[in-house]
Amino acid sequence: MKNVCRQTLVCPRGMFARGLSGTELVAVFQKIYLSGCLYMNPLVLLLDDRKESHELVPRMLKGLPGMEAVRTVCFTSGREALDWCHHNEPDLCVVDFQMPGMDGITFITEARKLPRFGGIPMIMLTGAADNDLRQRALMSGANDFLTRPVDAEEFKTRLFSLLSLRMSLIDPLDRVERLAHDVELLERQVLEREHEQIIFKLSQLSSLRDEETGYHMHRVAHISRLIAQEMGHDDAFCDMIYLAAPMHDIGKVGIPDKILLKPGKLTPDEWEVMKTHTTIGYDVLRDSSSPLLRMGAEIAHSHHEQYNGQGYPLRLVGEAIPVVGRIVAVADELDALLSVRPYKQAWNLKDALDHMRRERGRHFDPACIDVMLRHIDTILDIHEKFADVVEPVSSETPFLKRGVA
Ligand SMILES: [Fe+2]
Ligand SMILES: [Fe+2]
Repeated sequence: MKNVCRQTLVCPRGMFARGLSGTELVAVFQKIYLSGCLYMNPLVLLLDDRKESHELVPRMLKGLPGMEAVRTVCFTSGREALDWCHHNEPDLCVVDFQMPGMDGITFITEARKLPRFGGIPMIMLTGAADNDLRQRALMSGANDFLTRPVDAEEFKTRLFSLLSLRMSLIDPLDRVERLAHDVELLERQVLEREHEQIIFKLSQLSSLRDEETGYHMHRVAHISRLIAQEMGHDDAFCDMIYLAAPMHDIGKVGIPDKILLKPGKLTPDEWEVMKTHTTIGYDVLRDSSSPLLRMGAEIAHSHHEQYNGQGYPLRLVGEAIPVVGRIVAVADELDALLSVRPYKQAWNLKDALDHMRRERGRHFDPACIDVMLRHIDTILDIHEKFADVVEPVSSETPFLKRGVA
């Protein structure tokens, strides 16, 4: 107990400043010592392209004694999981071997290179009892592996034992640090919620100068979140894309009126200027300490990239385009097609969906298009709920789309 007491003397003001009273503080430290090694809400990273596992594993963990407080963060892509690991520290990783893109061994090898990831237990799930694969898994840094179909009892036992070991090895001072970190995170989240409304309003303000008025921002936010959810992203990601998607065109504030508001087609030179709204938005937002604004920067930068590499500004190809950009590109385009703009009528649903299908794998990520098509009814509900009240445009310009002359 001596170490902890010394720690409270070293940093009590920080804790008090975060709103914990003296009694609460004592209770927190007592809990750390008295309720055993699992008090600190262990965090399990689950990387598996099968969405069924994302529900099954947390259910199994919650059923274990002392694991009620366990949290799970799920990924279907090794790249996204690795990005997350750069800023977070799980207590256990459960990793599928076979996945599209980065496989499980590559993920473990890369994750082991990160600071503080040396001691994090990692279990690999594999479909085949292949000795060579097991050898490679162990060499890459896996601590254990399980063969599919996984026996539930064996799975629970292995997870429980590795997680208990991990939690018992965390130094008491580390636990205090982690607790302080959690309190700080909570406080920051409250603060960020207060900023959400401001961000949404500012995004709307930037769109008032051009044709994207009305409820376009709201619809793009809702559709982007829906696509992200149905692609299997976690709640934090989906909530964040909901707030960041409206920032996709925020860089248009830097485009001169004579180009942004020009009726009709732009000249090639004007089009080049118009395209810089992606880099302007990115430059404004990218240095922020807020993850939300940094996601806004990524979206602003990448929402005009195309899956086949014909987009701008970087002509990125396929999954090299940030997933947030691929999602918002679909939401933004579909909403633009279905909406009335000063220069065009709304497309009918069949024409709009035919266009999106034609562009599957060309302009748009096939996975995003498939999810969008599967959930088109919900998207139409969003459209109805956030419908714009607009003057009808002339029937002489039915299917124009703004572009280069
Ligand atoms: Fe744009
Ligand atoms: Fe838009």
